[in-house]
Amino acid sequence: MDMRIIVTAGPTREYIDTVRFISNASSGRMGLAVADAAARAGHDVTILAGPGVALSAGAEAAKRRTTAGFVNVADLKGLLETHFDACDALVMAAAVGDFRAAEVFATKLRRSEGPTTIKLTPTQDVLARVAARKRPDQTVVAFAVEGGDRSEMETAALAKLSAKNADYIVVNPPAAMGAAQSSACILAAEGVVLPWADRPKETLAREIVSILEAAHARPRV
Ligand code: CTP
Repeated sequence: MDMRIIVTAGPTREYIDTVRFISNASSGRMGLAVADAAARAGHDVTILAGPGVALSAGAEAAKRRTTAGFVNVADLKGLLETHFDACDALVMAAAVGDFRAAEVFATKLRRSEGPTTIKLTPTQDVLARVAARKRPDQTVVAFAVEGGDRSEMETAALAKLSAKNADYIVVNPPAAMGAAQSSACILAAEGVVLPWADRPKETLAREIVSILEAAHARPRV
């Protein structure tokens, strides 16, 4: 059964002044790999892509997907609030920034004016907010970038799974950001769904799509 899948990919940008921003090293590669794998498997895909994400894919994949762009966390939240109810699955691969400038300077800060202090404030947890209204027929996959040994990473990721009301969480170390490979595992509340291994992101993406398909095929209460 085909699904409507939303995939978020890439970094957010939070502007400090008119030209400078806070962002992160995400390339969007993981999200795009999931989008391509899902489109190739015949699903309808909506990609929500952050700045700098290179949207290239095969003709088959392109035919089956629509895209929208976001810049900052608030944009991404707005897009998900619009699209989430109509999807069967959300794959939240975007590297959503955790901080924004408390005040955005209306002009470009001048070096000649000397050092300045930028006060940061936490952004909203977009996934927690959107997945709070998840229906039983919807599946949500979160991602977690964690440090420490594998057991510490798993513990931290399981806490996020529950806090964000996700069904699955892909756990990987910071080195996965922007890389072609990912040393990852996938967890659900019941335990390990895909064991730790070094895999190309394309392989991991196909595994994620298979997990979504299996979840979609199960009767929901
Ligand atoms: N996420 C989100 N909104 C945020 C931060 C993260 O929706 N403001 C999503 C990410 O897209 C990812 C998941 O939540 O799917 C986990 O992201 P991560 O950065 O590992 O977790 P944080 O909630 O930021 O927790 P912490 O910074 O404490 O590790």
